[in-house]
Amino acid sequence: MASRLSAVFVSLVLAVTSVRAATYSLKDNFVGSSFLTGFTHEAIADPTHGRVNYVDQATALSKNLTYASGNTFIIRADDTTTLSASGPGRNSVRIRSVNTYTTHVAVFDIRHMPQGCSTWPAAWETNESDWPNGGEADIVEGVNDVSPNQGTLHTSAGCTMPSYGSQTGQVAGTDCNANDNGNAGCGVKVNKANSYGPGFNNAGGGYYAMERTNNFIKMWFWTRNGGGAPSDLTSGAASVNTDNWGTPWAWWPNSASCNLASHFNGNNIIINLTLCGDWAGAVFNSDGCSGDCATYVNNNPSAFANAYWNFAAVRVYE
Ligand SMILES: *[C@@H]1O[C@H](CO)[C@@H](O)[C@H](O)[C@H]1NC(C)=O
Ligand SMILES: *[C@@H]1O[C@H](CO)[C@@H](O)[C@H](O)[C@H]1NC(C)=O
Ligand SMILES: *[C@@H]1O[C@H](CO)[C@@H](O)[C@H](O)[C@H]1NC(C)=O
Repeated sequence: MASRLSAVFVSLVLAVTSVRAATYSLKDNFVGSSFLTGFTHEAIADPTHGRVNYVDQATALSKNLTYASGNTFIIRADDTTTLSASGPGRNSVRIRSVNTYTTHVAVFDIRHMPQGCSTWPAAWETNESDWPNGGEADIVEGVNDVSPNQGTLHTSAGCTMPSYGSQTGQVAGTDCNANDNGNAGCGVKVNKANSYGPGFNNAGGGYYAMERTNNFIKMWFWTRNGGGAPSDLTSGAASVNTDNWGTPWAWWPNSASCNLASHFNGNNIIINLTLCGDWAGAVFNSDGCSGDCATYVNNNPSAFANAYWNFAAVRVYE
């Protein structure tokens, strides 16, 4: 009896320990050419009305807008073509993961993000056929080179963040409901000036990560050259333990004000680069860019030489 009880006790302790340790195993490891099978190129009209023409994978590869070799994966906007104002927008690339993820850790090892006036890049997750009910988590997003980066959730009604968890970032919004405040969402700005655009690229790029559980969503950021990034994350280890990753810049807690499990379902990872559109175009001049955004895009192909993503890897742990 005593030994049976102690066996029960030991397995209880083990069960509690395994629930509490935030250890995840590598599920998908996208490096170089594996992005070409793990992601689909979405040749769709830009939902945000940007001055882009999203091309399919065969077109992107033939025009070298998508490039995969070794441990390099690049997607970019065209930087050679002058456009007719009445024709389609600048060729660009938008990719969506084949797999969907619920509770998971996503790691984005980024060498370079698109920069330049009019650029509006994003690395984010959603269920496109169920927006906003399936939730949206924006991990990297910004416009016109304006730093810092902001992480944002967008949901259906009934999700607010009256208080956040312990985090280093600055709260930009507390109502996650996409129908409120012009879909501003509940966002938190990174507390580092080099988290976005040219500053990010000058720091050698860096590491963005998100952990999604039913208890919270957290996001972390480290520059590549600034040090401090956890070794399991930077090395692409077979497992990661987010308990060792320190205070996140953003921590959205599950609470009576927002039941995360009911506001998020299986999400794809999406990486897109649009130009102008509802956000970048609307603030083009106030962000220090001159003239009309679409005209700028049409007439200045060489301004897009640095409008590219270069990924060392995207890794998903479950
Ligand atoms: C395609 O892009 C890659 C990465 O920028 C570059 O190294 C390569 O030379 C390009 N290929 C051609 C044919 O332009
Ligand atoms: C990417 O597309 C989604 C809509 O499908 C939009 O919410 C997001 O802002 C877009 N971002 C860019 C950079 O195109
Ligand atoms: C995405 O949303 C659709 C529509 O509600 C749903 O049927 C589907 O199961 C969702 N996908 C995932 C992976 O949860």
